[in-house]
Amino acid sequence: MKYKNIEITNDNYMSVITINRPKFLNALNIATIQELSKALFNVEKNKEIRCVIITGEGNKSFVAGADIKEFSNFTKKEAFEMSKNGQKNLFDYIESMRTPVISAVNGYALGGGLELALASHIRIFSENAKVGLPEVSLGLIPGYGGTQRLSQLCGKGIALKMILSAEIIDAKTAFKYGITNLIVSNKNLILESKKLAKQICNNSPNSIGNAIESINACFNFNLDGFEYEIEKFSDCFNSSDFKEGASAFMEKRKPTFN
Ligand code: CAA
Repeated sequence: MKYKNIEITNDNYMSVITINRPKFLNALNIATIQELSKALFNVEKNKEIRCVIITGEGNKSFVAGADIKEFSNFTKKEAFEMSKNGQKNLFDYIESMRTPVISAVNGYALGGGLELALASHIRIFSENAKVGLPEVSLGLIPGYGGTQRLSQLCGKGIALKMILSAEIIDAKTAFKYGITNLIVSNKNLILESKKLAKQICNNSPNSIGNAIESINACFNFNLDGFEYEIEKFSDCFNSSDFKEGASAFMEKRKPTFN
C-alpha cells in the first residue's frame, strides 16, 4: 500500500514506521493519523511482524504535535471529532495492540507527538529529545490522551506540573520523570531501538500480547486486573508457544516461536 505521509520498512519481524513530514516537523495532520492507523491495523494482522518502531524523519523532530494550521479554524464539533477519532483510531488503538510498539523519539515530541509516544508500549529517547505538552500555551489542553496517560505513567504531580506550565523538558529530565525507558545517542537511536525490538521478537508473541493486555487491565476500571491476569496466564497453556517454550527449557535449547 502506498502512503503519502509515512514510510514503512519491514525486516526481521520488525516494522519501522517513519512519519515523513519533516518540513512541518512531522506534525500530525488528520491524513497522517489515518495513515498511521491503517498501517498499524495491518501490522497487527501480520504474523510476520512482532514489533513496531515509530520514529520521525530527520534529526530535529519526532512529531511537533497535532497540525495547528489544520485545526486553527475548527468548530467545537470538528474539534470533538478530531479528538475522538484520533484517540479511538490511533492512540487507544496503539495502546491496545498485541504487537508491541516502541516510539524512537528523535528531537521534539510535543503535544500530539508526546501523546503518540505515551500511547506506545516503550519509549526510547535520543539525547536531543525535547518533550512536553504545551497545549495550554495555545489556549487548548492535550486532546489525544495526554492528560490521562501522562498521569498514569508519571503520577498526578508530574502531569499537573508539566501540563499547567507547558514546560518542554530534555531527555534527562524525561528519564527522571519515568517518561522514557532509555536515552541513547542521536546516531544510535534506531540501532538501539532495533536491538530492543529483536530481544522482544525472540519471545513468545502470544505471551507478549497477553502480557500487554494484562498490564493494560491495571488501568481499566471495568476490569479486575488480577482476575484478568489469571485468565490470560491460563490461556497461555493452550498455546503452541508454551509447548515450545517448555520443551526448549527441558531440552536445554533456545525456543523458536512460529
Ligand atoms: N503544526 C503545524 N505546523 C508545525 C507544527 C505544528 N504542531 N510545529 C511546527 N510546524 C511547522 C512550522 O509552522 C514551520 O512551518 P513554516 O516554515 O511553513 O512556518 C515548520 O514546521 C518549522 O517549524 P519552526 O520554524 O517553528 O521551527 P523552530 O525550530 O523555530 O521551532 C518548535 C520548533 C519549538 C517545535 C515550534 O515549531 C513549535 O513550537 N511548534 C508547535 C509545538 C506545539 O505547540 N505542539 C502542540 C500542538 S497542539 C496539539 O498537539 C493538540 C493535541 O494534543 C491534540
